[in-house]
Amino acid sequence: MPDPSLLERALAAFARRFPGGPPRLFRAPGRVNLIGEHTDYNDGFVLPVAIDRQVMVAARRREDRRVRLYALSFDQETEFNLDAIAPDAAVPWSNYGRGVGLVLRQEGYRLPGMDAAIAGDVPIGAGLSSSAALEVAVGYAMLRLAGLEVEGTALAKAAQRAENEFVGMRCGIMDQLIACLGQAEHALLIDCRSLGHRTLPLPADAAIVVVDSGVRRGLKDSEYNSRRAECEAAARHFGVPALRDVDEATFRSRAPELPESTRRRARHVVTENARTLAAALALETSSLHTFGRLMYASHASLRDDFEVSTPELNALVEIAAGVPGVYGARLTGAGFGGCVVALAQRVAAPALVAAIEAQYPARSGRRATVYICRASTGTSEIT
Ligand code: GLA
Repeated sequence: MPDPSLLERALAAFARRFPGGPPRLFRAPGRVNLIGEHTDYNDGFVLPVAIDRQVMVAARRREDRRVRLYALSFDQETEFNLDAIAPDAAVPWSNYGRGVGLVLRQEGYRLPGMDAAIAGDVPIGAGLSSSAALEVAVGYAMLRLAGLEVEGTALAKAAQRAENEFVGMRCGIMDQLIACLGQAEHALLIDCRSLGHRTLPLPADAAIVVVDSGVRRGLKDSEYNSRRAECEAAARHFGVPALRDVDEATFRSRAPELPESTRRRARHVVTENARTLAAALALETSSLHTFGRLMYASHASLRDDFEVSTPELNALVEIAAGVPGVYGARLTGAGFGGCVVALAQRVAAPALVAAIEAQYPARSGRRATVYICRASTGTSEIT
């Protein structure tokens, strides 16, 4: 359940900005990825969890074509007409809502106008997918106010298209899909080619600890897009549609022909897909030590081969590794800043928090923020 104060803040903001009748309430969660990083846009495997932090949209239908969005986090209101949606560089957060509105319209959904107040407690720009949560929550609100039902995968694809084509970030499908399909107390193993997915129960005695390094990813979308282009070049080298189709043996035999940097990018993706499937098996068989070892290996691969880590993220993983009862830790999300995720015995979580407080400021000159997360459900209406 969302934090009641978040709900109240969304409702209060709505009443202030858009008097004239009660709104309906929609939400979509942020996510943390346990393993399977930079694999989604290579048609590979990911294992994310929807977290108990969300974007809340209090929204009321309008009988004209106007959409007014007010974001509490920015104390900013923006407006557009559904028949003439264009990006607004001056209000960047609004482009996630504009984009999803445009894509849904292009896909033939008949959307009404709406007034909406948006409040959220997914930290912004921290790598926990606040933007996917925003896209999905706004898209879901628009569809539900139109009286339409839509499948989670269809909404996720529309939100991803909005981000790819409208915002210009060539992200994969992971964040939007988990924001739509997350399940309480479960992780989701997703095959990003077929979009087939399987829920895997999380052990009750383990805690998912997310640590925000305090380093913001900022304008690193171009780095992300260039990693993606390198992966696509590597797939062409192997003569396959995506790196998903390259196994470790094929990689070893044909990798020497690749330029050094492309080879390392591809090696990360090929080994990360194998690690993700192994981690899913480890979760199913309650082999949490194995799961943790795979998390450390994933981090090393992201640091050395994919080169998306930072000294701060490395420090957090090293600190976690020194705490008894921690199974594993790794950077989560795109990298270049943001968060680390650790899996730990629930009883060990306080010691992990203490170790981070004691060691991280001296090692990085920053303070970290720790979230102990529960796996929550995907987008929904709150009634
Ligand atoms: C970002 C993108 C996702 C995925 C991750 C890296 O979160 O939005 O699609 O590529 O980075 O795994």
